[in-house]
Amino acid sequence: MNTKDKCITLLEQLEKQTVLSKEEYLFLIRHKEDCMEELSRMASDVRDRVYGKKIYIRGLIEFSNYCKNDCLYCGIRKSNHKAERYRLTKEQILDCADQGHALGFRTFVLQGGEDPWFTDERMADIVRELKKRYPDCAVTLSLGERSEESYRILKEAGADRYLLRHETADPDHYRKLHPQTMDWKHRVNCLYSLKRLGYQVGAGFMTGSPFQTEEDLAEELLFLKELSPQMCGIGPFIPHQDTPFRENPAGSVETTLFMLGLIRLTLPDVLLPATTALGTLDPQGREKGISFGANVLMPNLSPSDVKKKYLLYDNKICTGDEAARCIECLKARIKKTGCEIVTDRGDHKGGYHNV
Ligand code: 5AD
Ligand code: FES
Repeated sequence: MNTKDKCITLLEQLEKQTVLSKEEYLFLIRHKEDCMEELSRMASDVRDRVYGKKIYIRGLIEFSNYCKNDCLYCGIRKSNHKAERYRLTKEQILDCADQGHALGFRTFVLQGGEDPWFTDERMADIVRELKKRYPDCAVTLSLGERSEESYRILKEAGADRYLLRHETADPDHYRKLHPQTMDWKHRVNCLYSLKRLGYQVGAGFMTGSPFQTEEDLAEELLFLKELSPQMCGIGPFIPHQDTPFRENPAGSVETTLFMLGLIRLTLPDVLLPATTALGTLDPQGREKGISFGANVLMPNLSPSDVKKKYLLYDNKICTGDEAARCIECLKARIKKTGCEIVTDRGDHKGGYHNV
């Protein structure tokens, strides 16, 4: 069998939910140029079968860029003294949500650096207020690593979902991307705690992060199959000028698309965003992501004056645009792909396995 035929056979097995080995995933990743088109078609078909042509939108509210962590890749790491720090007030956060609701958003994502100012009490108060004002909306939190008790308090306050990228499935690789005070096991334990507490959980990683190998990418797929998260955020690594990885090359659009497609086949009912980082590396990146099975977009609802301060990487798109303008632009872009942005909470459709 030639390489292309072998790739297609593997993709067909994956589509039928046959579990692939690390070597089989690796084979696909090493020969991606032989089956990009087939993967795009199959991943879109699987997405359509589970979710139809609906693209769900999440209103991202970047409420604080203070962070006690020092991840080597991240522009808001605590050692970056050039980052201008800000915190939104509860009123500002609620204003963002008001505007978002009027624009058709039914999920709000509160994302921030690991900022101790936002104690459980303060966070729970904001979550409760959001759920009271918008009982028809889902609240997603993305606050990094916290204690199980903290996750429990926030769940009881009404939070529905939690995003915490695991960043890499390999503990050794993790140590090269993070200060030694951070621990892979702890992060993964957080993901399992969140699942146990009943959150819809989002994991994820960067493609092309420094030191990442093709084997690491194959491992990502095994890890995701095992964790079976309801959401998975992946985007290319993009260097930030004020971080130790400023000279490292950005990840590739093709690899990101290929991984999106493989994730869609591996976890058919996963909610899969076409990320802003993908749109930053390629003007058509988000549309391309949709064509490889993505079904979520996360436009920014943060106030205009802080958008330029939440910079995890260089050249981030849409930092000069009002949310209303972004959503109009995205609707037009997505229509051209044959999909459609909808006003919907966009909950996960599958069962909750492996909890
Ligand atoms: N390039 C791309 N993605 C990044 N993130 C952080 N820094 C970068 C970067 N330089 C991602 C991480 C984090 C998420 C919020 O953003 O995966 O979990
Ligand atoms: Fe923001 Fe196009 S999506 S300007």
